[in-house]
Amino acid sequence: MRYEKLWIILGLASVAAWGGQAWPFTAAMKSSCANCHTMHNSQGGSPVGGNASLTDAKPALLNNSCYGCHTGDNTTGSMPYVMSLSGAPNYDGSAGAGLGTGTETGHNTLAGGSFYWVSQGQDNTGHNVEGLATQTTRTPPGGSTSFTTLTCAGATGCHGNPAIANGVMSIQGGHHNNNITTLDGLTVASSYRFLSGIVGIEDDDWELTVSSTDHNQYKGTARTGDVDTTDTISHLCARCHGTFHNGSGTDGVADATFASPWVRHPVDLDMNGLSEVAGYGGVNHDYDVTAPVASDDMTQGTQATVFDNANDAIVMCLSCHRAHGSPYPFSLRWDYASWPAGGYYGCGRCHTNKN
Ligand code: HEC
Ligand code: HEC
Ligand code: HEC
Ligand code: HEC
Ligand code: HEC
Repeated sequence: MRYEKLWIILGLASVAAWGGQAWPFTAAMKSSCANCHTMHNSQGGSPVGGNASLTDAKPALLNNSCYGCHTGDNTTGSMPYVMSLSGAPNYDGSAGAGLGTGTETGHNTLAGGSFYWVSQGQDNTGHNVEGLATQTTRTPPGGSTSFTTLTCAGATGCHGNPAIANGVMSIQGGHHNNNITTLDGLTVASSYRFLSGIVGIEDDDWELTVSSTDHNQYKGTARTGDVDTTDTISHLCARCHGTFHNGSGTDGVADATFASPWVRHPVDLDMNGLSEVAGYGGVNHDYDVTAPVASDDMTQGTQATVFDNANDAIVMCLSCHRAHGSPYPFSLRWDYASWPAGGYYGCGRCHTNKN
């Protein structure tokens, strides 16, 4: 009996330890190497890969591209899918109000949204990433560098180390060391979602289910001047959309002082004490997944309510946008363009003074 009890205790302890470590997240990642790697890019003399455009031999002996692997329909426990081949993913669920909160029945997009709508030629619904949408030479709005291709990762993309041109090489080591316990931003694996140098707290189902107590915690900085930041989610966007985040004079969000009147919508600004937004999250000031806010102190964990501590309600680019894409113009989280005839007034989630 005593030994049995000991084994139960040891068993529970190891489950707890594994649960705490959470590396890697998914069953897919713990599966056979051959599911993802091919030794010679050859099987029976033919190249490995799903279709003509995917048959090239790939870095790290991979059998697929980023979007090749990351295409599918999200279900509980699945790896993160950001693109769908089976028709439009369910962004709104049964509510259909353009919220995409993840609490509606049938909702199956993740925190970044989906590239699906861009892949269907709805150009301004998200990032036109190589392989999913036609590439034209363009300069990101607010930026200065011209792009011929926009990629998932690497020097011309968002994920991985931007100093490394090749996308796969730029995230090398990320997938096999995916770390959610200590996101210090020092390596790609220990950066928020392999976004090199960015920190944050990662929700373990990428917000497939999401609520005020179950969500990604984004990192912001409570700026007092129109300067750049280093490790915030809005700094990631600023790498390409610079003047929408910071700059001198009327580049950036503020002109003379870092306060109202603003010249562009403020980001990396703490909302504590601002009467304009004092009703955020209702009477209890719940974290609102429709218009999420960042915080500056990751040791406080995931915020279920805000305005409890200084700098726990910071406006960020993702307060209004999805990073990958949404069904709406400008990759907005809700249907701003159709309001007030239809659509949804998500701005009012913060601007409670204008409701
Ligand atoms: C679910 C898919 C998946 C499975 C299963 C998988 N890998 Fe990988 N592996 C990747 C991806 C994606 C990369 C490239 C990107 C990166 O490094 O994050 C990679 C990179 C690598 C690398 C180079 C980067 C590094 O981390 O050192 C090695 C070596 C490697 N895999 C070996 C293996 C071996 C051995 C197995 C079986 C035990 C395996 N992989 C199983 C997806 C997978
Ligand atoms: C061979 C299949 C495969 C390829 C190729 C692949 N991925 Fe992944 N990716 C996965 C799997 C499986 C996971 C889930 C990882 C886990 O279980 O920790 C994942 C997870 C991720 C995540 C989430 C990390 C986190 O912190 O939650 C990101 C971001 C990502 N991949 C980006 C990329 C990018 C960018 C590329 C191309 C350069 C790429 N992937 C190529 C299979 C792949
Ligand atoms: C590696 C460069 C890069 C980064 C980093 C980047 N973007 Fe972009 N973004 C672009 C380019 C290039 C375009 C031009 C249109 C396109 O390709 O979709 C664009 C377009 C957009 C658009 C307009 C969508 C459209 O098609 O009209 C929005 C909104 C946007 N980005 C938001 C963001 C946000 C939010 C972030 C941070 C999460 C971000 N971007 C990070 C390069 C980038
Ligand atoms: C995450 C919260 C949040 C969301 C969502 C949000 N705002 Fe704001 N907005 C703020 C904060 C905070 C300020 C700064 C208020 C201040 O300085 O008193 C601001 C400032 C502004 C200003 C400038 C006011 C001034 O005094 O210069 C305008 C205009 C504005 N927002 C419009 C919008 C619109 C339109 C939307 C929807 C597309 C929106 N906001 C969504 C938080 C938000
Ligand atoms: C308060 C909500 C809000 C915030 C915060 C916000 N945006 Fe926007 N963004 C919008 C809206 C709404 C539009 C659509 C155009 C308009 O109404 O001015 C837009 C448009 C854009 C565009 C397309 C501009 C064009 O020329 O077509 C880009 C790129 C963009 N945002 C990037 C960003 C980046 C990067 C950040 C953070 C630095 C950010 N946004 C923060 C609401 C926001």
